[in-house]
Amino acid sequence: MNGIPDFDYLRDLTIGTVEFVSPSTIRVKLEFNTPVNTAFNAGFPVSFPKINGFVLVPNEVGAIVGMISWIGVENSLYPKRTGLKDFDLIDLPFPQRKMQVNLLGTLKTKRDGTFEFERGVYQFPSVGDAVSIPTNEEMEAIVENRERNANVVIGTAPIAGNVPVKINPDTLFGRHIAVLGNTGSGKSCSVAGLVRWSIETAKTNNKKSGALNARFIVFDPNGEYSKTFDSIGKPRKFRVNIGEDLIKESTQLQVPAWMWNSYEWSSITQASGKMQRPILRRALRELRNGGTISNDIFKARIDLTSYHLALKTHVARGYDILSDKNERTAFGKRLVMFKGDFEHMITLYNHLSEVVAGLGKTLRMIEDIINKYSKSFVRDGEAIQYFESISRADFDNLVANMQEVLDSWGGEVEYEGPNEDTPVEFDLNQITAQIAQISKEQNAIQYVDYLIMRIQTMMADIKMSSIINYKSEITLSEWLETYIGDDQGSEVMIIDLSLVPSEIIHLVVAVMSRIIFESLQRYRRKNGKPLPTVMVLEEAHHFISRYVQNTEELSPASMCTQTFERIAREGRKFGLGLMISSQRPSELSPTVLSQCNTFLLHRIVNDRDQELVKRLVPDNLGEMLNELPVLPTGKALLIGAASSIPTLVEMTQLKEEDRPHSSDPDFWDVWTGNVEREVDWKTIAREWQVE
Ligand SMILES: Nc1ncnc2c1ncn2[C@@H]1O[C@H](COP(=O)(O)OP(=O)(O)O)[C@@H](O)[C@H]1O
Ligand SMILES: [Mg+2]
Repeated sequence: MNGIPDFDYLRDLTIGTVEFVSPSTIRVKLEFNTPVNTAFNAGFPVSFPKINGFVLVPNEVGAIVGMISWIGVENSLYPKRTGLKDFDLIDLPFPQRKMQVNLLGTLKTKRDGTFEFERGVYQFPSVGDAVSIPTNEEMEAIVENRERNANVVIGTAPIAGNVPVKINPDTLFGRHIAVLGNTGSGKSCSVAGLVRWSIETAKTNNKKSGALNARFIVFDPNGEYSKTFDSIGKPRKFRVNIGEDLIKESTQLQVPAWMWNSYEWSSITQASGKMQRPILRRALRELRNGGTISNDIFKARIDLTSYHLALKTHVARGYDILSDKNERTAFGKRLVMFKGDFEHMITLYNHLSEVVAGLGKTLRMIEDIINKYSKSFVRDGEAIQYFESISRADFDNLVANMQEVLDSWGGEVEYEGPNEDTPVEFDLNQITAQIAQISKEQNAIQYVDYLIMRIQTMMADIKMSSIINYKSEITLSEWLETYIGDDQGSEVMIIDLSLVPSEIIHLVVAVMSRIIFESLQRYRRKNGKPLPTVMVLEEAHHFISRYVQNTEELSPASMCTQTFERIAREGRKFGLGLMISSQRPSELSPTVLSQCNTFLLHRIVNDRDQELVKRLVPDNLGEMLNELPVLPTGKALLIGAASSIPTLVEMTQLKEEDRPHSSDPDFWDVWTGNVEREVDWKTIAREWQVE
């Protein structure tokens, strides 16, 4: 076409004229002679645009690109026919085909006659402009993703002449993707495909020999991915293997209890806030320190140092803040909190007279200050506490006293070494004894009975302890090398969760994902560059469900959600991308969904889920999603950052052996003797009873 418009050609592709323009949509009146199905008037078959098909409104720079959202017939006045005299007829309303088109972007014609698609419309069409259907060449330019590295082919675009649809893995994984759709709509195949096609394409471009420096960590709740990646490299497989020596090539899944932080510990043991959690935290801290802080005076020094420091930092900005109205009330409330803490500490160290004396003296000074400056008034029947300006002398006195007490104990100490959250290895079998000892010291043994019992139950369960307390020990660095992969790269790790007991499945996923996230954070801090890693989460609604914020309850499920919310928000910076898949989008955490920049939408029938999905995409695309309930399996809408334009994709077919295989029970084949299934309850009963 060498840049000069071929007017005959254009005329042949013209199908109508613009009759109404708004900023996001236009309405088009179709020509009478526009074909209904396939148009041959261009000299080659062009299928007449259907819903979600593309049309062009040519202008000076090229053409505005729109997507058809509605086609219908409206009765209009009989159109004037130029050149013809009026008929001797009464003009009756005339059925006129019309369509509504959402504007998506601009297709620019470059000097050399090729095209380039850009999102955004610079110049709006005007009433009377011609509307045409794109040629195959133009179609390709619209769907083609011009981004650098957009080289992974994931399927074709049936509505745009079956041109290949390509994605850039940096955008797709780096900015999180959600694959949503009903059961059976093709999600798992798409997830497996996106991983496979990315790896395959990267392999053909690999500058080094051997495995790719790639990491896909797949959480597989249904155990359907075990064979899926066998034909590309050597995926690592992890599962619970106790009593079942079937899958030889998979490793026992290990999430040792020393890896859990105190939050995760509290959540799985349902430790109560007031009594049990502080004791549990302390037990963890002591175990992780290998019992080095056995000296109680030392512990008291650590405690008092932190309060001393808190007071000193409070006035580091100058004493003025003691007279600022809001600041001094905040400070007063803090003192009230200190008072409670000191009372608690005095009972804690009641066997050490020296410590009790020092703490008691400080406590009395705190009480004096509170009594002197705390005032209250009544508003709406409620007493409101506030603080008057605290004198500098009183404040300095308190700080000096603390310093004195600290000096008499041997001076300030900064607490160093692992805290209750640091993943330092310890022997799980000692935790109950440690808790018992601490609570005995505090005369609180009656409060921790249940806590100890819950931990013991967990450790006694063979399946659970196989994961949290496996006999062959693993160190932190070994764990990271095994589960995230070392220099050799392992490309895909499949974490089969199907046999993980339901009591700890949320904990297992939360701990693993947190440790992976934090290690990538540390990697980035140390190396200055992120280590690209993708975490794949199937059945995501189980792990990142909407939850009700409840400060007291730390259920493992909401903890798991919170971990993924943090990864969704911050993962990008550290090279950690998320690919989540779910059949119940409306049950997913809104925080995580809103951080996903690409959506691959399969068939969705349910109203609530459709509503939700519509809220995730820009307004003028809402109507495009009306097609969701009728999408055939294996077709999906690709929307968002990874595609230049919302595109209906016919996903590339996976070979039978490369598809995820969910283990749906095969009733029919068993009933009809097509497959064997022996029954041996004796062995099962025997094994059950000796566990
Ligand atoms: N890209 C694909 N290649 C091959 N088969 C597919 C593809 N997508 C879907 N299918 C077929 O559809 C079935 C259901 O797909 P699946 O991915 O398991 O759905 P979902 O995970 O949404 O329940 C698969 O067993 C497979 O036969
Ligand atoms: Mg599935």
